[in-house]
Amino acid sequence: MSCFLAGFADQCFEAEKIGLEAKLPRRYINKKFKNVVLCGMGGSAIGADLIRDYLKYEIKLPVSVNKDYRLADFVGKDTLLIALSYSGNTEETISAFRAALKKKAAVIALSSGGKLKRLSLKSRVPFVKIPAGFAPRCALGYLFFSCLVILSRCGVIKSKKKEIKKTVGLIRNMGCLMAPYVSVKDNEAKRIAGELYGRFVVIYGSTSTTEAAALRLRSQLAENSKSLSSVHLLPEMNHNEIVGWRHPGRLLKNFAAVFLIDEHDLKEIQKRIKISWKIIEKTGAKVIGIRSAGNSLLSRMFSLIYISDWISYYLAVLNGVNPTPVKMIDYLKKEIGRR
Ligand code: F6R
Repeated sequence: MSCFLAGFADQCFEAEKIGLEAKLPRRYINKKFKNVVLCGMGGSAIGADLIRDYLKYEIKLPVSVNKDYRLADFVGKDTLLIALSYSGNTEETISAFRAALKKKAAVIALSSGGKLKRLSLKSRVPFVKIPAGFAPRCALGYLFFSCLVILSRCGVIKSKKKEIKKTVGLIRNMGCLMAPYVSVKDNEAKRIAGELYGRFVVIYGSTSTTEAAALRLRSQLAENSKSLSSVHLLPEMNHNEIVGWRHPGRLLKNFAAVFLIDEHDLKEIQKRIKISWKIIEKTGAKVIGIRSAGNSLLSRMFSLIYISDWISYYLAVLNGVNPTPVKMIDYLKKEIGRR
């Protein structure tokens, strides 16, 4: 896991090349698509969540993320649909991929191989291969950046070359500050992992800016640190969940609320974070803020993703667990495949 984290900047850089070199049919380039659908599950879907958040305020087409067997009725021949499955064997994604073919959507498949590769070749769907040998959640760079470049090559967004370059540079610098050899006093990820250790973690992001990063932190705490946590978003959580910070009474001191903070959050959101922070602090729970870094939306999003990944790794170390295996996911896939 620490090797993946140390090599994350290189992975993102390589992924851009994969996207640029992918063979795409001419009929996909600059076609007047009406919507974009990204299909995937778990570690493969988080890249799609990030793309949806990242493009929300610049793309004219609706972008949706499909984490299901079926597709919404609006999907049709004017849809650009990208099926993302790192293994290529995830049954929900395969099922959505088949449904997209029936609906005559413009489909692209992205995986390291598996059934998705076989089906794509058989149905003459463009197939983009990403390197094998990673845990799916450790292939986020490959999944996100190659997909982003493919979207720009299809003409649905502008080229993100500059932003990608800056983001890769930022990740590289952050990697040096959070590596295992950096002592806890200078290592923010180690410090935060120490503060979360032994507590139930409640993660708060804000809709559209830090939403995907909040989901990633929850998934990484589960899969790497083998820790249960919850996630909710501002402003919505101010309209319901905030009231729940009362029970189970004295146990709340064993909770930690983590706010993901972005300087470009709306003023209204920043105000809500401050007030919510105070309310939660009064319950005796630990409250922690993780601030994004970098000067573009892409960099800021990835700075949160990257620190979250390191935190989950250090929390795994503190919990005395191996961050890599996800036995329960493997067991579920096996059982479901058998029935
Ligand atoms: C495992 C992981 C899982 C998988 C998910 C879907 O590292 O993160 O969440 O990503 O079970 O499998 P793939 O990504 O192979 O389609």
